[in-house]
Amino acid sequence: MSKILVTGATGNVGRHVVSQLAEAGLEVRAFARDPERAGLPVETVHGDLTAPETLEPALEDVESVFLLWPGFSTGNAGEVVATIAKHARRVVYLSARTSGGGSHYEEVEELIRRSGLGWTFLRPGGFAANTLGWAGQIRQGVVRWPYGPASRALIHEKDIAAVAVHVLTSGGHNGAAYVLSGPDELTQAEQVRVIGEVIGRAVHWEEQPLDEARERLMEAWGEATFVDSALEAWGSFVDHPERATGTVAKLLGRPALSFRQWAHDHAADFS
Ligand SMILES: NC(=O)c1ccc[n+]([C@@H]2O[C@H](COP(=O)([O-])OP(=O)(O)OC[C@H]3O[C@@H](n4cnc5c(N)ncnc54)[C@H](OP(=O)(O)O)[C@@H]3O)[C@@H](O)[C@H]2O)c1
Repeated sequence: MSKILVTGATGNVGRHVVSQLAEAGLEVRAFARDPERAGLPVETVHGDLTAPETLEPALEDVESVFLLWPGFSTGNAGEVVATIAKHARRVVYLSARTSGGGSHYEEVEELIRRSGLGWTFLRPGGFAANTLGWAGQIRQGVVRWPYGPASRALIHEKDIAAVAVHVLTSGGHNGAAYVLSGPDELTQAEQVRVIGEVIGRAVHWEEQPLDEARERLMEAWGEATFVDSALEAWGSFVDHPERATGTVAKLLGRPALSFRQWAHDHAADFS
């Protein structure tokens, strides 16, 4: 009864949670829909959170769970949380920094609070990895996107994972909700400039008119409410920049990784 089950183990954050826990010599089990394709260096079992019956066997001998909730609705999260509570003692949930308003993150947090599990919530703001969505445009030298002045303190996925590992391997975090960010507040146009500097190429920001952005996003995502709420959220960071919190440094005893460092780590993804 000492294993740590990592869901989302093939994702940006989960991959680092798995490798950092394994490096620390802990017993880790990864949960993935296709274990063979996952190519992880630890025991990996098949599982799909939309099919909670696949979770039960994965929880054997598990004490703690790193939980990511896929998708943007709560769906069967209640059943998933209840199954975890039947077998394990604590959960570290990868939630999000929200401005309230009943998002699925808050709903999943509430299910966990009522489950009887020991819990810690990680509430990161924007992931630096979101900028990988510009990789194609960066290769062409121009990023055409809305809201150049929107500012966020993007966080390196390695830091979210490091906080998760710290919380999973040390005491005193039960009932804590940590709002996590990177150390630099950068506008989107500045983020693009930093990536260009790191990969040694001039990359320009071109402000995309909102109606054009909406049209492109509708082609890509197909769902108007989702597109509109994403645009509204991005736009809100123009007047209300996402602020750096300093929580990563406080918890880990070292500075959070900069956006420039993140761009160095991902230079190959933009070349
Ligand atoms: N991007 C942001 O700015 C941001 C900010 C705050 C919070 N978040 C939250 O962070 C999470 C994303 O983390 P990430 O970037 O590390 O992940 P990611 O790279 O987007 O990968 C998604 C992960 O979810 C797993 N997954 C998808 N559907 C699944 C299912 N039905 N059952 C089990 N696993 C499933 C995938 O595993 P397999 O495909 O291998 O099964 C994969 O490991 C999301 O919950 C997101 O809402 C994101």
